[in-house]
Amino acid sequence: MGYQDLREFVRVLRENGELVEIGESLSPCYEIGAALRYLDRRSGKAVLFTNVAGYNCPVVGNLLGNSKRLALALEVEPEHVLEEFKTRTQQLIKPVVVSKGPVQEVVYSADNDLLKVIPALTHHEKDAGPYLTSALVVAVDPDSGERGMGIHRILIKDKNNIGLFLYNPPIGAYFRKAEQRGKPLDIAVVLGVDPALFLASIASDQKGKLNKFEMAGGLKGAPVELVPAAGNGLEIPAYAEFVLLGQVLPGIRESEGPFGESSGYYLTYDNPVAIIHTIMHRQDPLYHALMPYNRENSLLLNLVWQSSYGTTLKKEIPQLTDFRLTSVLGMCALLQIRKTAEGQPKEILEHVLKSNPLIKSAVVVDTDVDLSDLEEVSWAISTRFQPHRDLLVLNDMTGYPLDPSAENSVTSKWGIDATKPLGKEDLFEKVEVPQPAMQKVAGILQRGIPPGRSPEARGE
Ligand SMILES: Cc1cc2nc3c(=O)[nH]c(=O)nc-3n(C[C@H](O)[C@H](O)[C@H](O)COP(=O)(O)O)c2cc1C
Repeated sequence: MGYQDLREFVRVLRENGELVEIGESLSPCYEIGAALRYLDRRSGKAVLFTNVAGYNCPVVGNLLGNSKRLALALEVEPEHVLEEFKTRTQQLIKPVVVSKGPVQEVVYSADNDLLKVIPALTHHEKDAGPYLTSALVVAVDPDSGERGMGIHRILIKDKNNIGLFLYNPPIGAYFRKAEQRGKPLDIAVVLGVDPALFLASIASDQKGKLNKFEMAGGLKGAPVELVPAAGNGLEIPAYAEFVLLGQVLPGIRESEGPFGESSGYYLTYDNPVAIIHTIMHRQDPLYHALMPYNRENSLLLNLVWQSSYGTTLKKEIPQLTDFRLTSVLGMCALLQIRKTAEGQPKEILEHVLKSNPLIKSAVVVDTDVDLSDLEEVSWAISTRFQPHRDLLVLNDMTGYPLDPSAENSVTSKWGIDATKPLGKEDLFEKVEVPQPAMQKVAGILQRGIPPGRSPEARGE
């Protein structure tokens, strides 16, 4: 169960018609990013670049950029991705440590030049340089010795110097603990892993309650295999494409950016720096590219946040029957409810808008509106919402730091009640095609249209 490595997942994407190959020579500076952006907005497929200018290493990108590929990653039907993600990330399976793995096939020590080996992309026009955007940073908690990981943006500054944005737990917390003791933090930067490991790295660890390696095991249905990384006491994924070993230095902050972020804007921070002392990779490695401001990024973050925040909201709001996050960075919440009283949707809107700085807007609809279909949500707004009556605006709220319109993180928020008024069921009854007819037709069309029955075949 699960995929052993990135290569196996790429093979499955190809077999399922979800991968295009580009053989023309493209530069990692802007051109591969441009192709990822272009295809994200058009075919929506994953892409394998086999001819990367200046490198012998192919690049694969837009890997998890639609719900079909997320479903392939978890080996479920697209409509079950969210539920499976929630369930399996709670079914923890501990990793196993094995003595050797393919990631150790080629090893370079000290004084290496990262950019000679890794085709890191420069994504956006004003980016400070090439960035690793799919890197799992692995480290050990200086207090408990527990192993943790997370995805963190990494600027390659020169030969073996990197700048890292270590904000989120657990790695951000590990570094702050090491720094308080005046000690460097040993890290492994892991590139190119199977989709379960990648998805677990961005999952919420629920304030340290869950271990992301164990969540990866749950997602995969099998333990993650790790190998000891010689020299620093860390254990690293045995089937990764690349691993860089190094140390984050205490007491140092340097400008890291501008970097075109997932919000669609450039951001620069004063961030920690690390020195890489060892590079290891598999024979013929494959580099995993991730375009920061693409549909893929929003899908990934929305999946993670829907899973953790949606579980909390279900407990708090008994009428809630479905919940989605949409828009860039999940800033718009869609709520489907079984309404039992007038006024209830506005109370729910107020609760949701006040409960999380991330959520800037929210829409409440009835159970006959499918939240996975934004056209249906828009239909409900157009036909059930009256602005003078159903719009809620909240001022002076704590906003999301990545929203540039929220000055000093202070924002206004809005909510839309797009539910039907109670007692007017006749007027608001949604047209439906009878279910038996839909099921019969779906059965026929899923098998493909029988040959010889098309208008052309009938000579029409
Ligand atoms: C593509 C991508 C890039 C990310 N980059 C960073 C980063 O540079 N620094 C960071 O601290 N967190 C980054 N994260 C977020 C974390 O991985 C985090 O684990 C995730 O938001 C979990 O949710 P939580 O913060 O609610 O626990 C990134 C997430 C994704 C999907």
